[in-house]
Amino acid sequence: MTAARASSTINHQQVNKGVSTMINVGFIGCGAMGRDHVRRITDKCGNAQVVGVYDTVLGNAKQAIEDNRLDATIYDSADALIDDPNVDAVVIASRNDVHLDPLLHTIAIGKPTFTEKPMTINGSDSWKVVEAEVAKGRKTIQVGFNWRFDPGYDAMKTFVGDGQIGSLLMAGMRHYNAQASTSYYGTDNVINDTLIHNFDVLHYMFDGDITSVEMKFARMNTLNPNGESLREPQLAIVEFSDGALATAEANVNCQYGYDIQCRLVGESGIISLPDVATPEVRKAGQISHAISSAWFDRFIEAYDREFDRFFANIEADRQPGGKEATAWDGYVANVVADAALDSLHHGGRIPVTLNEQPALYR
Ligand SMILES: NC(=O)c1ccc[n+]([C@@H]2O[C@H](COP(=O)([O-])OP(=O)(O)OC[C@H]3O[C@@H](n4cnc5c(N)ncnc54)[C@H](O)[C@@H]3O)[C@@H](O)[C@H]2O)c1
Repeated sequence: MTAARASSTINHQQVNKGVSTMINVGFIGCGAMGRDHVRRITDKCGNAQVVGVYDTVLGNAKQAIEDNRLDATIYDSADALIDDPNVDAVVIASRNDVHLDPLLHTIAIGKPTFTEKPMTINGSDSWKVVEAEVAKGRKTIQVGFNWRFDPGYDAMKTFVGDGQIGSLLMAGMRHYNAQASTSYYGTDNVINDTLIHNFDVLHYMFDGDITSVEMKFARMNTLNPNGESLREPQLAIVEFSDGALATAEANVNCQYGYDIQCRLVGESGIISLPDVATPEVRKAGQISHAISSAWFDRFIEAYDREFDRFFANIEADRQPGGKEATAWDGYVANVVADAALDSLHHGGRIPVTLNEQPALYR
């Protein structure tokens, strides 16, 4: 059932975009990320338009509509939005712990769905998503592991795939934030919200499967305002089935900016992300570069490109896979994160044990 239609500031998007067939998108979750994606689709995706929104906080749904001057329906439940035949595709950008039910619903009715990462909050819930897709015999879920679409990571993947630095031996990654992103971000979020991106990239880049994770805490940063509720910096040590090793540092109170780095060491060379892709300034006896303040500007191009791919797949009636993360990839990242949380709470090196990969994803 629909609750309201916000039509006071009608923006006839289809006419404005000059496209005859548009993909009608329904949004579940209109917080910071959801509203950023609504704006992205409205401003940048020529073949899609947001026609409906749902958020448990009505004000957030209304704000998404008002900010973008949309002619869109506000639903009173996620189920109503998903079931509406006017909604061709669904984007889930709600809190991590409420992705599962709408995912199972969209799979059941075969509606293409983009879900923000993490796909769910643990491996067992994510396995339910995989099983649901397998039962339908079709992949309809794309998971928002946007780093795969970053031009820097994309080039690294091509280098590695072409064998230009030989088989990978090691990786060193940095995932730093100036401050924690939400008031409820705590110790476990460092893994489930932050390092889970790194786990996905490692799974994407390396040939071997991830077989174990060990987490270590560094000394607490005295500038961390959250105290014991946010224990960090954290260091992940990741092992692969072929003996390769990777480390990923999370430091979410680094104060100075949003800083992402990755160095891959192969048998015959090294490839690293560009340090920062901003102009070099020479001034007052110094050389400097600006650093991004947060994920939404550092990865702006990656977010745009992941949605371009989502809609291109729908237009071509193509299932996700390859570059875009599937439900299987979402499951793998969750299982690695589960092991990392186990190590964080109980110490030691924790094995990563995956269920057999269903043929649908091979
Ligand atoms: N890919 C990335 O780089 C990236 C960056 C930030 C956030 N995210 C992900 O995006 C998602 C949203 O994060 P955020 O930063 O916008 O958080 P947020 O707290 O700003 O927004 C969450 C929104 O979900 C809504 N919500 C809660 N329960 C709901 C329910 N049952 N149904 C519908 N809406 C519900 C809340 O009211 C809120 O508006 C999370 O999964 C997060 O991990 C991804």
